[in-house]
Amino acid sequence: MSKILIAYASTHGHTAKIASRVADVLRADGHVVDVHHDVAASNPSPAGYDAVIAGASIHGGRHQAQVVEWARCHGPSLNMTPSAFFSVCLTAADDTHEARTTTRGYLDDFEERTGWTPRHRTTFPGALQYREYNFATRLIVRVLMKRGNHPTDTRRDYDYTDWGAVEEFARTCAALPRGAAV
Ligand SMILES: Cc1cc2nc3c(=O)[nH]c(=O)nc-3n(C[C@H](O)[C@H](O)[C@H](O)COP(=O)(O)O)c2cc1C
Repeated sequence: MSKILIAYASTHGHTAKIASRVADVLRADGHVVDVHHDVAASNPSPAGYDAVIAGASIHGGRHQAQVVEWARCHGPSLNMTPSAFFSVCLTAADDTHEARTTTRGYLDDFEERTGWTPRHRTTFPGALQYREYNFATRLIVRVLMKRGNHPTDTRRDYDYTDWGAVEEFARTCAALPRGAAV
């Protein structure tokens, strides 16, 4: 049984759902999991954990500043701990060379800005959550989606996440502490 930290930020709740699914899989595997959603307030230290997982979503081309700042602050400690990072964005839902380059760029940018090189890193396609957005955000996102030929019916949400891939990622993370002992 290992002690695992999950730290994440979520602007409209989708990254929270992914973090929660990862936590469920880890707990089912017998691990003790601490989940922190407000890292700016709780500033959890990686010390004392057998593995650390962080997650953040992309808004306006950037991950949430609070996770970037937290990872930058704890970078040296994170680099010595078995760790993983997951990013959530909508470009990952597009199967084009340009979208793949942009998606990879988000991960590279995160590593450059934080100095943390997680053992595993991945990106999950996120969700269009029209019903969660305020009026202005709904309007802006709808215009952007229309340009990209994406759904524009703001009465419903659209979930692009491959939940099987999320569970697979969680199982990979479950093996992180064992990897450290080898
Ligand atoms: C205002 C806004 C800006 C966004 N900007 C980007 C972006 O630049 N690139 C991208 O791939 N996805 C972008 N997204 C999509 C989000 O990353 C996606 O909806 C994700 O699921 C949000 O997760 P959260 O609910 O945890 O914040 C944006 C979403 C919103 C609402």
